Amino acid sequence: MIIAVDGPTASGKGTIAQALAAHFKLPHLDTGLLYRAVGRQVALSAGNPDDPADSLAACAFPDSLLEDPELRSEESGGLASRVSIHPQVRRALFERQRTFATQPGGAVLDGRDIGTVIAPDADVKLFITASVQARAKRRWLEMTAKGPERETDIPLAEIERDIVKRDDRDISRADAPLRAARDALVIDTTEMNRERAIAEAIEAARMHLGGKR
Ligand code: DC
Repeated sequence: MIIAVDGPTASGKGTIAQALAAHFKLPHLDTGLLYRAVGRQVALSAGNPDDPADSLAACAFPDSLLEDPELRSEESGGLASRVSIHPQVRRALFERQRTFATQPGGAVLDGRDIGTVIAPDADVKLFITASVQARAKRRWLEMTAKGPERETDIPLAEIERDIVKRDDRDISRADAPLRAARDALVIDTTEMNRERAIAEAIEAARMHLGGKR
């Protein structure tokens, strides 16, 4: 069984995907982390994330980079969004994601194009969204709670602007833009807390599976 969870940044899709994986006892892949690793690798090699050749070369990042806590930073998220525009990069990361999705027993993947490109054959497709304000507030609270010092004093308005910029880039790119698959169930988490969002997603997945699991 393949479960695809897509949505914009800070929508709660990662948390929901993890909870679905635990509930259905499936392995989980956060595909954003792959793009973040490419973005970080470009920066480490002093390349240009807007250059397709530099970004493609960075797709050969070492696996150990996936453990780097720096990948979770806002800076890495911005770099990931820039390198993810290049079709060459998307192609280079395709096989790795597809192999994970089609492993025996199934998997949960979260990202931007799982239901549309990586696993259009997924059994369950969820598209998690929330207002820009709600997403910025969550990101800000996250940073204030445990973020590195230098990020905690970023004003909320700046985080909002960053989210809008990232959304624009993810939605308007020509190759695999962020959008809900036609057969995806959209869950808007703006007014939901974490527990409620997780419960809705599990229930939606169970319904899609005909209440079998
Ligand atoms: O989910 P995230 O914030 O970690 O993703 C970071 C960036 O990576 C996002 O802005 C766009 C890109 N991305 C993508 O293009 N396709 C995916 N499946 C996952 C992420």
